[in-house]
Amino acid sequence: MTSIDWLALLHPVLAILFIYPLVGATVRLGLLVREKRLGITQQPAKVPAEHSDHGRWLASGVVVAVLIALLYSFISKFQADAAGFAGGGARLAQLLLAAEGTLLSLITLWRVRRPLWRACFALLCWAGLLGLGSQPEIWRLSDNPFSGSFWASHYWAGILLTGLLLWTTAARPEIQRSLRLRRLHISAAVLISLLLAVQAITGSRDLLEIPLSWQKPAIYSCDFNARRCPLPGPQGSAAPAPGGAGAAAVA
Ligand code: HEM
Ligand code: HEM
Repeated sequence: MTSIDWLALLHPVLAILFIYPLVGATVRLGLLVREKRLGITQQPAKVPAEHSDHGRWLASGVVVAVLIALLYSFISKFQADAAGFAGGGARLAQLLLAAEGTLLSLITLWRVRRPLWRACFALLCWAGLLGLGSQPEIWRLSDNPFSGSFWASHYWAGILLTGLLLWTTAARPEIQRSLRLRRLHISAAVLISLLLAVQAITGSRDLLEIPLSWQKPAIYSCDFNARRCPLPGPQGSAAPAPGGAGAAAVA
């Protein structure tokens, strides 16, 4: 594996080592908060604060993981073909600057107290991710919500998940105070949990589909719709890809 392949692994590794264990702890603590509030079980006084602290770290971990995935896409494409990268090094520098601004909004979201500032920095952070993600270098499966592949897109589910987590982090004091917002938070949390499961499935699917950097010329010469790859050799005839439609006939 080359250094760019290791960079590709950073995003899934962060998700597996940091985000998903944190999801387990956050969900468990959330359920304990509810049991405590309804008087079902006795819980230490700091359980609600522990839950929302874990939630805040979860939201931040997801934002950082998404930034890493987006930066990987830009850097790998620039490294593979600097001349073909629209805007060249100057545009890459602008994209890195936008990523830095997004990270800065996240850090500021942790520090500000007033509701308006919390809403502004959460929105700014999300807008930064959307702006970076809308670049042509990012693989989005489909941008049309009326097509099936939009709903199977790792990118769009990730963006929705990040938005929900940022909203929850921004509204933390209000969720603590208001029953109505707590109910809304529970609905959002169900959707968040579902989207986390979707991300684990679509992310593993993408890991299977993305070749190592030195394999790319061979893999990308395949016809993905017909599931056929050209055979190496002078004839250049087509053979079915492993698992493809005609694999059994060849075997
Ligand atoms: C998978 C994610 C999450 C799940 C399943 C979850 C679940 C829950 C549950 C069940 C409650 C109890 C509601 C009640 O008392 O009726 C709760 C409360 C709360 N959650 Fe979450 N939550 C999640 C993520 C987050 C995140 C990301 C934050 C952001 C900081 C957060 C902040 C809060 C706050 C502030 C409360 C109110 C605590 C209190 O009563 O003082 N949660 N959550
Ligand atoms: C917390 C959940 C996750 C979120 C919010 C998330 C979000 C994203 C986003 C926004 C992208 C960039 C768009 C793209 O290139 O398709 C991406 C890329 C990618 N994700 Fe995830 N993802 C998550 C979990 C995972 C997991 C669990 C895996 C694998 C086990 C994974 C594997 C990948 C792969 C292989 C890419 C392609 C680019 C790269 O390697 O950086 N993701 N993800």
